[in-house]
Amino acid sequence: MPDTRRGARLRLPPGQAAEVARWSAAGASGAYGGDRPAGEPAEAAVPEWPAGLVPEVAAAAARFGRDLGAAGVLRVAGVAVPAGLPPTPGRPYVEVRRPVGTERLLLALAGLAGEVISFADWHGGDRVQNLYPLPDQATGQSASNAVHLEMHTETAFRPNTPDGVILLCLRPDQEARTLVCDLLDLWPRFDEATRRALAEPAFAFRLPGGTTTEPKPVVTRWRDRPRFNYADALCATGPGHDAALRTLREAIAAEAATVTLRAGDLLFIDNVHVVHGRTGYRPRYDGTDRWLQRCLIRAAPVGAR
Ligand SMILES: [Fe+2]
Repeated sequence: MPDTRRGARLRLPPGQAAEVARWSAAGASGAYGGDRPAGEPAEAAVPEWPAGLVPEVAAAAARFGRDLGAAGVLRVAGVAVPAGLPPTPGRPYVEVRRPVGTERLLLALAGLAGEVISFADWHGGDRVQNLYPLPDQATGQSASNAVHLEMHTETAFRPNTPDGVILLCLRPDQEARTLVCDLLDLWPRFDEATRRALAEPAFAFRLPGGTTTEPKPVVTRWRDRPRFNYADALCATGPGHDAALRTLREAIAAEAATVTLRAGDLLFIDNVHVVHGRTGYRPRYDGTDRWLQRCLIRAAPVGAR
């Protein structure tokens, strides 16, 4: 499968990774808790990345933030995962909320890329979200499942849909492959009728009882570029729109690139134009399962960039 065209890669040198890890583990982070209005920036300041610490990584995070809308995917390898990382929890992290030591670096990098946002009704408003398989969610469509996680824009169609998502892999699983697809690559290939249909408010989620959510366009404009809100679960309200949605869905399935996250890998995903998902895998629920941390960001205002 092709790698995403806008993909970029960096690696923290081991010596500097150790320095970053010491700095990250030493600080209180404000990663967990807080009752903020949905999608509002946290009132507590995000930790500031120390000047001079792995400057190429800091610069890449800031550049990713400036380029949101066309930033693609940025992969940074080599973050030092704490040696004393506890077993992967077996209950939601809102019931745990114990910093593992990586929260400060994750929040600081997210703060270089944009404003860190959280949702009071999602992961309890935590600014660092911890994702791992939970047995009672194994077959659902959430990041805590074990079955194929369908391709989606993170929290699509919300007034506060994040502009970017940052993942940090604490504990990997070779079988679980992250899927990404850059819709800016696909967009020029679609004919005019398909593009026009996708820009009309005709796409919704099915609700129990046969109704749907309010139909919305898959494609809007954001900072002079196409912005996509997509999920494999979307349905169309008419036959013309259904054909356009099928064209898009098939193109995503054919062109998605796979990324197998290793321990210490950071993956920055531009949520404006890159959709993501994950292959199914076989969690053991014994403390050794895959564990990711996630931050959501909103692009800084144009004048502030
Ligand atoms: Fe997601």
